[in-house]
Amino acid sequence: MGSNISRDSSISNFASQQQQQQQQQRQAIGTSPNTIRSKTGSRVGSIDTFHKNSTNNKYSINEERQNPASSLPASKKTGKRIIAGRTYHANPASAYMLPMDDKEIDRLHEEHFVTKELLGFNFMNEAINQLDFQSGGLEILDVCCGPATWLCEASLEYQNCQFTGIDMSSLWPQIIRPSNVTFKEADVLQGLPFPDQTFDFIQMRFVVLAFRVNEWPFVLSEIKRVLKDGGCFQCIELDMRITTADPFAKSYTETFESFCASMGLDITAGAKLESLLSRKEKRKGDTTTEVGGENKNHPIDHHMQVLRSEYREVPLGWGGPIGDAYLSLYQGVLEGLSPWFKPHQYYQQQQQQNYDQFLHRVKHGLHQSRSYMGLYAILAQKPSMTDPDFGNRTTN
Ligand SMILES: C[S@@+](CC[C@H](N)C(=O)[O-])C[C@H]1O[C@@H](n2cnc3c(N)ncnc32)[C@H](O)[C@@H]1O
Repeated sequence: MGSNISRDSSISNFASQQQQQQQQQRQAIGTSPNTIRSKTGSRVGSIDTFHKNSTNNKYSINEERQNPASSLPASKKTGKRIIAGRTYHANPASAYMLPMDDKEIDRLHEEHFVTKELLGFNFMNEAINQLDFQSGGLEILDVCCGPATWLCEASLEYQNCQFTGIDMSSLWPQIIRPSNVTFKEADVLQGLPFPDQTFDFIQMRFVVLAFRVNEWPFVLSEIKRVLKDGGCFQCIELDMRITTADPFAKSYTETFESFCASMGLDITAGAKLESLLSRKEKRKGDTTTEVGGENKNHPIDHHMQVLRSEYREVPLGWGGPIGDAYLSLYQGVLEGLSPWFKPHQYYQQQQQQNYDQFLHRVKHGLHQSRSYMGLYAILAQKPSMTDPDFGNRTTN
């Protein structure tokens, strides 16, 4: 892959830049090069242009943030809670268990760059062929955008398009950001707060731990609702089942799967997306528990044309810097989930060791046995009412 991603220097530059934005605002804006680096110092992504553009107004100061009186009432915000020194959302309706603090923001930045390295794109080529990003005027939405790393890059790539990020936690740059990006703090499970047919392109990525099995149909139906006819949906998702030959790692990964199932989550969601998105028929009386299983209130109706489907193995701790980075990202997930995973029966049975030793043993087993999980990238198109051939084209 020719990757030069490594892990010792700090990718946290970007996150700390976000935290220091207030300070930056007082200083001359964009005077230093700010390159996002992987932890070993190799350049894996860049916000150079983000800062360079500050001198020609390509990014803006968020007015709402400047005027706290205009921000959302506290009651509409998700709220936070601190558990074992980490900050988590306090949305009782959500199954999402990962933190929302600076450490997690750092992790998500790194995940963006290593994934871009693995996949090689921010937008799948077929989307660029279908939609005229260069001419501008497109409306683009990132559902569950997190710290908005993808949005900040993508919005600078296509400065004449309008980008919107939505997430229940406001992890995005609070004050200084590209002028063509806006954010909304909202729970997707309450519905996407946009009119029908608003967006030309929608992305959703890394939400396998965000939605319960029976919530996926609603989320996908909302995405389809706010997508314009002929618009494209790019979904990038993990299949977190780990293929490993190490007995300890194997027993751990099986238990992780059942732990997630006990929380209503399906870690294999990535593997099911393609069939879920291209599913045409409402299935009567279906009692399946698979992702997208029929839900009385939201019958299956996600029928879209899958234009492209890609799969990558995600190496965990082997094969070079990408594997090293993904193992470290995975460790970050297990650390973040620890308040819920530690009480789980399996971990309790292993309790002759502390959590750090347990993580070390899992990591060692994953690395030694060249373990991997799956990553799926799917591009689907909403039917266009004027296209009589829709549904008859072949999938790549
Ligand atoms: C693993 S992060 C991925 C962030 C981003 N998509 C990326 O690729 O970096 C999952 C995100 O989903 C958000 N999320 C989870 N459940 C949500 C919900 N019901 N409504 C809105 N956002 C949600 C979390 O707050 C978190 O920022």
